[in-house]
Amino acid sequence: MTKRNVIICQDLEQDLTRVLQELRWDRLFLLTDETTHRLCQPLISGFSCMKGAHEIIIGAGDAHKELDTLAHVWMELSTHGASRHSLMVNLGGGMVTDLGGFAASTFKRGIPYINIPTTLLSMVDAAVGGKTGINFNGLKNEIGAFAPAQAVLLETEFLRTLDADNFFSGYAEMLKHGLISTKETLYELLAYDTDHIDYVQLKDMVRQSVEVKEHIVEIDPKEQGIRKALNLGHTFGHAFESWALKQQAPVLHGYAVAWGLICELYLSVVKLGFPKEVMRQVGQFVKENYGAFYFTCKEYPHLYELMKHDKKNTSGIINFTLLNNIGEIQLDQTADQETIYEVFDFYRECMGL
Ligand code: GLY
Repeated sequence: MTKRNVIICQDLEQDLTRVLQELRWDRLFLLTDETTHRLCQPLISGFSCMKGAHEIIIGAGDAHKELDTLAHVWMELSTHGASRHSLMVNLGGGMVTDLGGFAASTFKRGIPYINIPTTLLSMVDAAVGGKTGINFNGLKNEIGAFAPAQAVLLETEFLRTLDADNFFSGYAEMLKHGLISTKETLYELLAYDTDHIDYVQLKDMVRQSVEVKEHIVEIDPKEQGIRKALNLGHTFGHAFESWALKQQAPVLHGYAVAWGLICELYLSVVKLGFPKEVMRQVGQFVKENYGAFYFTCKEYPHLYELMKHDKKNTSGIINFTLLNNIGEIQLDQTADQETIYEVFDFYRECMGL
């Protein structure tokens, strides 16, 4: 993925037409889910550049990010004459771009694809950076490949119809990008009026946020080093997300990341002297906008166990990305059980639990 592949759209039709003209392909496929088929596909179906595209519609939601859905996409490609020179356009949130990217990158050993993300989370994270895949054996993104899109078209007009929960879910990844980049980026995010969304300012903040990710992915596309910075908040966050799922009370990914950020900033304070005031400001923002993930000390061993099985670990040692300060990243940090339990205590106190 190179910078020129991510396009902040001024006019989706013009930008998509240009991208489709630049690429060589024989047949065009459009992947949507039931939601984006209803809400977003009508916006692009009239574009003359999409004329003749065969639409493949899959079920919406993470439950459909699995092998049967993938097989269905392969089958549609196969029975509708896709060749190695066909092109797929993925129109949707992270589920569609992850699964569609993986379907494309494996069909006939790989056909090119384009992402048009429609949620904030997919615009600033999932659709950018070439990670594709599906859930398998109860594990998220267990099967997948690094396979960058030919282009990612960011049309922030789609965000006007996004519900508040999905807005904040994506916003958590933007906060993370703020924390790993600059004070200015972070403070603009913390000061942004989320009650009265200014879409012009949001578009610019999305651009800045994506640039943070693109810059890191350009240096380290396969997460050998600095790309691990993007895991800030995710070690605790994934444990919260998995535990919520086990309790049959799933939470949105970004909410789990927001709660995880509080934990990992506290760990950064304890281990690396991260400024307490910045942690307090981020904690306040998260508490006000995300509420709290509720757990008691009885859940500590379960959460700790989930963290020990995180796929980012090596040899069972829990791996964190932490910060010395805003933008000062420390990779491959660890913490023992006692410290992690202390973080849980802090989180509960901070959230008033
Ligand atoms: N979502 C983190 C990454 O793309 O590396």
